[in-house]
Amino acid sequence: MITIKSKKEIELMRAACKLTAEVHEEIAKHIKPGISTYELDKIAEDFIRSHGGIPAEKGYPSYQKGVPNFPGSICASVNDEVIHGIPSKRVILKDGDIIKIDLVAYKDGFNGDAARTYIVGKPNNKEDERLLEVTKQAFFEGIKYAVKGNRIGDISHAIGEYVEKNGYSVVREFQGHGIGREMHEDPGIPNYGKAGRGPRIEPGMTLAIEPMVIMGKSDILELDDGWTIVTEDGTPAAHYENTILITEKEPEILTLL
Ligand code: MF3
Ligand code: CO
Repeated sequence: MITIKSKKEIELMRAACKLTAEVHEEIAKHIKPGISTYELDKIAEDFIRSHGGIPAEKGYPSYQKGVPNFPGSICASVNDEVIHGIPSKRVILKDGDIIKIDLVAYKDGFNGDAARTYIVGKPNNKEDERLLEVTKQAFFEGIKYAVKGNRIGDISHAIGEYVEKNGYSVVREFQGHGIGREMHEDPGIPNYGKAGRGPRIEPGMTLAIEPMVIMGKSDILELDDGWTIVTEDGTPAAHYENTILITEKEPEILTLL
């Protein structure tokens, strides 16, 4: 069921999403060679809790039997890790690493979800920088279609086309999603597909749109921890996500300050 948020609910979504954006801003200050993803996790958790929120990813259940709940307050995925990387004292950032931070702040009953990708210190090459730019732009290509009367497939199609036109691949097994009281609500929003398909887009929907882009082939693998998703060909990946609000006119990006 797709939830349409009331005026009051939209205000609460705004607040949760603002906090999410602020956490990203705080983390960004600390992304430097020598810091561990465990330390980034602690910075995020402290920031969220001291601002009246809860890190919604911490303890999030796996859909697979026997896999422990997600242990981190953020997902921190490096280089060929695409999403759901587990923060660790042993993962220490170094020059040229491609680090993805994906986090959800829960506040007053609502969730804000956003992901960012950074290159640590000095980039290894221009192609890594282009991967980040294409991934971010794919989000903006997608939300051009996030308007009343269009269909979800219009967003999906725009993202997939833009990424492939630029010579990269989108992950097909994971997708964007509705968001609100729950982290994951209907509809699912794939990063590829046919235009003109899927549910109609209506004002009051809040959607997390999140291109996950691989430099090489689209195939992925899951590590034995049951969470970390890596590229099969070992090429790097990038992720860019915002929570948006559908309005009568242009969509509003709730997780940008
Ligand atoms: N934030 C992710 C998303 O974009 C989900 C994280 S999975 C979790 O949907 F287990 F870490 F919560
Ligand atoms: Co999301």
